[in-house]
Amino acid sequence: MLHPFRPEQLSSDVRPSESDVQSVLLSAEQVQERVAELGAQISRDYEGKDPVLVGVLVGAAVFTADLLRHITVPCSLDFVAISSYGKESRSSGVVRILKDLDESVESRHVVIVEDIVDTGLTLNYLLDIMRHRNVASVRVCAMLDKPSRRLTSVDVDYIGFEVPDEFVVGYGLDFAQRYRNLPYVGILRPEVYGGK
Ligand code: IMP
Repeated sequence: MLHPFRPEQLSSDVRPSESDVQSVLLSAEQVQERVAELGAQISRDYEGKDPVLVGVLVGAAVFTADLLRHITVPCSLDFVAISSYGKESRSSGVVRILKDLDESVESRHVVIVEDIVDTGLTLNYLLDIMRHRNVASVRVCAMLDKPSRRLTSVDVDYIGFEVPDEFVVGYGLDFAQRYRNLPYVGILRPEVYGGK
């Protein structure tokens, strides 16, 4: 028999991969509070503009879904998938589209939704693609920003949190496809990814 779901049972300290997490950087509550603020800000800025949110798969899937529910103006949703780090923890600088948008963004107000801006290479590539598609405007909303690692300058219009130069997981962010299900953002133990 299925028992009713009780959210209070979903405590972050019963998650299986917890032992790989060195420390919790942003609690689930902090994340949710900030996502609501970002949603409210975007709603104010895009009043009457019918924006399209473009989530960058897979990392931004969780953030995009939460953010969308805090957007109070009419909007649409689309996704792109780009090549990710695979099992490595650092960017190779090689970016390619694995899944393109379903709908045309010509003359639309686009908000790219990213999980984290690290070197900025991925975002620069995506911004270039959007601009070539004759969008009305394009802005970026990133849950996390790691400015210390930037290799190329890129404007991020909406930022959830600035984070230090650590490899973080959770709230959609992975290492080797794991930890995306953690409701908080944690610092991964360097031993796990063979880092510093
Ligand atoms: P960038 O091109 O170096 O800015 O990298 C962007 C992508 O790298 C993000 O969308 C993430 O998928 C991934 N990434 C960068 N830093 C981290 C991290 O600390 N944890 C998990 N993924 C990361």
